[in-house]
Amino acid sequence: ARLAAALAVALIAAPLAGHAADDIQERTLKFGYSTFEAHPLGQGANKFVALVDEKSGGKIKMKVYPATQLGSETQTISATQGGVQDIVGTSTAPIVGLVKEYAIFDLPFLLANEKQADSLVDGPVGQALLAKLQDKNLVGLCFFENGFRNVTNSKHPINTAEDVSGLKIRVMQNPVYIDAFKMLGANAVPMPWPEVYTALESGAIDAQENPFGIIYVNKLNEVQKYVSVTKHAYSPWAVMMSKKLWDKLSPTEQKIFMDSCNEAKLYQRQVSRAEDAKIIAELKARGMQINEPTPAQLAELKAKMQPVIAKYSETLGADLVKQAQDSI
Ligand code: PAF
Repeated sequence: ARLAAALAVALIAAPLAGHAADDIQERTLKFGYSTFEAHPLGQGANKFVALVDEKSGGKIKMKVYPATQLGSETQTISATQGGVQDIVGTSTAPIVGLVKEYAIFDLPFLLANEKQADSLVDGPVGQALLAKLQDKNLVGLCFFENGFRNVTNSKHPINTAEDVSGLKIRVMQNPVYIDAFKMLGANAVPMPWPEVYTALESGAIDAQENPFGIIYVNKLNEVQKYVSVTKHAYSPWAVMMSKKLWDKLSPTEQKIFMDSCNEAKLYQRQVSRAEDAKIIAELKARGMQINEPTPAQLAELKAKMQPVIAKYSETLGADLVKQAQDSI
C-alpha cells in the first residue's frame, strides 16, 4: 500500500515538475532601438534576443527594429511606457527627463575607464537607478554600453575650450550636456538623433559628440572631418521593458529576461571594447583626422565644466554623488 501511495504521489508530481515550461507562453515582442544592427549595441541586442529564445525553449521571440525605425529615443521610451512597444534600448541621457538621478552618469569626466564604468552601472548606484524606472511604467533589465563620447566637428581639431567656443554642437536631450557645452562657449543644441546626420550635412550644426562606434556605423566621416578624443562622458545604454508587459509575465518568464539581459551585456561590452581600435583605423582610412588632447588640456576642459558638476551635484544630492564616487 505504501508503494502504491508513493507511486500515486510520483504520478501526480510528474506533470507538476514540468509546470515551469507551462509558465512560458508563446510571445512575439517588439524591441526597438536607435543604432544599426551592425553596431556592438545591435550585436548585443541580437545576443539578448537569441538567449531569450533559447531559455524559453523557442517560445519567446523578439522582433528587432533597429536604426530608429520606431522613432527617436524619447519617442520609443514613451511608447514603451505606454505598452505600444515592448522593449527599448537607449542611451541613459534622455531618461533624465523621467528620473532626474540618471544625470549622475552625465557628470562630465566622472569616469576615466571602462572598469570604473562597470563598477558604477553594475554596483548599487546603477542597480538602484534600474529599480527607479518601475515608478515610470518601465522595468530596467540591465545596462549595455554605448561608450565614452568624443566630439566630432567640421571646422578644426579640439584641444581647448577656445576650440569649442562658437561651435554649434548637437547634444542629446539632456540638461547636463547642454550646460556642459555652454560652459565651453559652444552653442549647444539639443536634437533627437534621427535629425543629426542631415543637420550636419546641411551645416545647420557644426559638431556632435558620440562614441567611436556610433560615428563609424553612421558614416559621420561623410559630414565631419575631425574627431577629438575628449572622452568627456560615458554613455550607458539601458535595456528596458514596458511594465504593462512585465506585470503579465510569469516569474519564470521574468527571470528569463533578467538573466538573458545580464548575460548579453557581458558579451555586448566585450564586443564594444574590442572594436574601438579597428574603428579608429577605419575612420582614419576614410579621411577623418583624429587628435588626442593632452591630459593637461583635458584637465582644463574639466575645470571649465566644474560649475556644471557643482550645480548637478547639488540637484542630485551629495549622498548620491558620494555613493557614485565611492563605487568607482
Ligand atoms: O547621441 C545619441 O543620441 C545617442 O548616443 C545615440 C546615437 C542615439 C545612441 O544611443
